[in-house]
Amino acid sequence: MRTDIVILGVFVADTAYRAERQPRMGETIMGNSFVLGPGGKGSNQSVAAARAGGNVHFVTRLGMDDFAIMARKTWEEAGVTPVVTDDPDSYTGAAYIFIEEASGDNAIIISPGAAARISVADVEAQAALIGGAAVFVTQLEQPMDAAERALGIARQGGARTILNPAPAAQVPQSMLELCEFVTPNETEAEGIVGVTVKTLDDAAAAAARFRERGVSAPIITLGERGAYYDDGETAELVPAMSAGPVVETTGAGDAFNGGFSVALAEGMKPLEAVRFGCATAAISVTRPGTAPSMPARSEIEALLKSS
Ligand code: RIB
Repeated sequence: MRTDIVILGVFVADTAYRAERQPRMGETIMGNSFVLGPGGKGSNQSVAAARAGGNVHFVTRLGMDDFAIMARKTWEEAGVTPVVTDDPDSYTGAAYIFIEEASGDNAIIISPGAAARISVADVEAQAALIGGAAVFVTQLEQPMDAAERALGIARQGGARTILNPAPAAQVPQSMLELCEFVTPNETEAEGIVGVTVKTLDDAAAAAARFRERGVSAPIITLGERGAYYDDGETAELVPAMSAGPVVETTGAGDAFNGGFSVALAEGMKPLEAVRFGCATAAISVTRPGTAPSMPARSEIEALLKSS
């Protein structure tokens, strides 16, 4: 049985500022705290999956600098196998993260640096790994043509494919058809299929639109409400779980995708895997940071048992 999870994506250093609000243009305001830590959606998902018990390979591109050292240390500690193209002509990227003190909600600017240069050739060089995986996952922080090629290789090789279409972007039809699962949040779903998602009925309508466009089983993530799953036969809301007070929601989507991919790779049914992903996300939001907030397998199992 295949067990490997291969994730294509971006590592960046997260620079996280907590403040009451964002500054207006031309204004300086005082923040409450600053933390520098590992981030990038693909890297966060890799860390989440590895900590949840997955055998994870992360395909990316790094500069040759201090942030690249941070990346490698993060993966080593989590047990992620790096598959890295070193790029001496660029830098390892960074993200500005504003965290609203009252809610823990966030707003992000990301500059992926070297990872913005991930190419179709980089992906084709890893065709055997990607095609031989149990589960392949990617997002939209690296170039779209590389993501689409990797999804094509994964699909052809018989891997299960997950596209986390974040940040929000237009996704071509040809790419959606390569996805067994997509995991957009409300904004990303609206950006791709044009349905504004506010209610559960809206989520159902958005999911139906994804299926019309060739996705086998869309999963619309709905924050504190949970995740709406629809494979054409089963359509239901998997309610969010609570693991304590919410400290920071940054990286919750990454936790969901990491947990979901591990459960799928272990052969759980998709709905059960969505529940596993929801538990992973529920714990991550009770802690600050993105990659550092990802829970261990034992914590996920304990929450699933008590929920
Ligand atoms: O999903 C959260 C991540 O988005 C952050 O770690 C930040 O780096 C951006 O990529």
